[in-house]
Amino acid sequence: MISFPSKQAQVQTTIFTKMSALAAEHGALNLSQGFPGFDCSEELQALLAFYSKGHNQYAPMAGVPVFKQSIADKTSLFYGIDLDASKEVTVVSGATEALFCAIHCCVFPGDEVIMFDPSYDAYDPAVRLAGGIPIHLSMDAKNGFQIDWEELARTITPKTRAIMVNSPHNPTGSIWTENDLEALAEIVKGTNILIISDEVYEHIVFDGQKHYSVLLHPELRQRSFVCGSFGKTYHITGWKIGYCLAPEYLTKEFQKLHQWVTFSSATPLQYALSDYLKEPSHYLGLSDFYQRKRDLFASAFEGSKWKLLPSHGSFFQCMDYQEISDEKDVDLAERLTKEIKVASIPISVFYEKAPGDTILRFCFAKSDEVLLEAAHRLVQL
Ligand SMILES: Cc1ncc(COP(=O)(O)O)c(C=O)c1O
Repeated sequence: MISFPSKQAQVQTTIFTKMSALAAEHGALNLSQGFPGFDCSEELQALLAFYSKGHNQYAPMAGVPVFKQSIADKTSLFYGIDLDASKEVTVVSGATEALFCAIHCCVFPGDEVIMFDPSYDAYDPAVRLAGGIPIHLSMDAKNGFQIDWEELARTITPKTRAIMVNSPHNPTGSIWTENDLEALAEIVKGTNILIISDEVYEHIVFDGQKHYSVLLHPELRQRSFVCGSFGKTYHITGWKIGYCLAPEYLTKEFQKLHQWVTFSSATPLQYALSDYLKEPSHYLGLSDFYQRKRDLFASAFEGSKWKLLPSHGSFFQCMDYQEISDEKDVDLAERLTKEIKVASIPISVFYEKAPGDTILRFCFAKSDEVLLEAAHRLVQL
């Protein structure tokens, strides 16, 4: 073996890979990793088949122009925001790439990047790889996983380069309100702090509530990279395609990096999605679709010892097992996968310093049969 120092000595395989592998090994119902247990629409499949003839060479680096325009048009329709498709939109190979490029194009060694735990596990390692210092603030389950704005204000230093935000939130299902946008804007006003906003669940918000994108607040929009994904919206997580929306000066820096990371994203996917996203009903119905699943899953736990935490958006349901077991969440998640064959995600792994909560995350983007069978097994505990 050749000796070389690991650049990520502390980093392990992600919990999603681990739990999905464990679920497969034990033939468990996989409610761990966040991917739909059903296929995308036949219409989208047909579009892909159509465009896989004659559209098989490199796309332009920033994306196929008609696709970028469709993304800008959809943003305008949904948020009432006008974007210049040629200057403010970049097509990427999934939100993971968007997050990585956004972080790496602005974070210098020694810069601090603030994130709120439990936080999606792609943020911290990307900041560290850039030489940055991740600063983790905790959100409290008892407080509905709301951000403590006073704590954030106290945490900002001259070294703060960026703040990572995520609504609807993975893993907790919490969402931002207009007040959250206001609070963040008030804190960053007059600073050079950038915002990296992970909005991959933008079209999954429940109970008639609305998604408050940072795009909606001028103070935030002018300093934000908005990272989106078609994977969650169209049941195509395996396509790995998304976008970054940012003002021109940020998009320029973002694209300098994107060109070295992937250069461009798959061409036929871009043409197929460009047509598909012209029809708003394809994403406007998504909240109702998942709300029904959330409610179906939740109803199966009525009268049980599981305590369901509110899920306002995303396709995750967090559940407290305090009355069932005193095991650590990591141990219980593993045991449930092996013994009753239901896989989940322990939320402590999304913390730098886990608070010792007794909470597991279940993905309800699964067929009704799978959800009911999983619930049936869980309520027996
Ligand atoms: C919060 C969050 N951000 C980013 C991603 C990654 O999105 P993509 O699959 O488009 O890379 C996910 C996927 O689970 C996610 O939950």
